[in-house]
Amino acid sequence: MMPVITIDGPSGAGKSTVSRKLATILGYKYIDSGALYRIVALETMRRHIDENDDTALAQICNNIEVTFFNANGKQKIICGGHDISGLIRKPEISMLASRLSARKITRDYLTALQRKMAENEKIVLEGRDAGTVVFPYAKIKFFLDATPEERGKRRFEELTLKGLQVDLKQITQDIIKRDNNDRSRRYAPLLPASDAVIIDSTAMTIDEVVARMIQTIKQKNEEYS
Ligand code: DC
Repeated sequence: MMPVITIDGPSGAGKSTVSRKLATILGYKYIDSGALYRIVALETMRRHIDENDDTALAQICNNIEVTFFNANGKQKIICGGHDISGLIRKPEISMLASRLSARKITRDYLTALQRKMAENEKIVLEGRDAGTVVFPYAKIKFFLDATPEERGKRRFEELTLKGLQVDLKQITQDIIKRDNNDRSRRYAPLLPASDAVIIDSTAMTIDEVVARMIQTIKQKNEEYS
């Protein structure tokens, strides 16, 4: 198996920025698994599909053609020939992605897709179950957390910077609701792997988190060599 570093945690904990930076420093490919769940949500909405229609969900998951690339430090996501980077970040897509991600059919397909994407590359995989379900044997796992208030503030700033009109209170409430869905679902709930290194980023900068991760990776690599 090619080396995999997993970074799990709740929404707004800083996973995306940290994962992207870490991948760049290490020369690994960054995979944003949340984007895959968001793509399924976008297609479900676009095609007016019933959320409980497993056959239709399977068909969407089975036909995802996605390319991630880095454009001046920003992630661009091309799906079916279209740039959907902004569209999939809309709050209604976040909520639908959270509901659809609780369905076994969606998880089964997207778990297989993530494993396939990692077949020939060293990857940093960001998600909710990367270290528990997708790559339980990964040697380096992190769980990144922060208080709900801090996470709401970060998500608000991120969306505002993207030009979206959002309300801080609403964003924080949505984050808490989504976390509850993600933590309490039956299949692959959000939780730290027993061997994950837990980092609380509430009072840390992105660079501090990345530095802590690099230090941990060095230590672990020494232990394994
Ligand atoms: O990381 P994100 O906010 O882009 O994820 C969107 C939703 O998808 C989130 O509510 C939980 C779900 N998700 C998941 O269940 N498993 C993953 N590996 C990634 C995301």
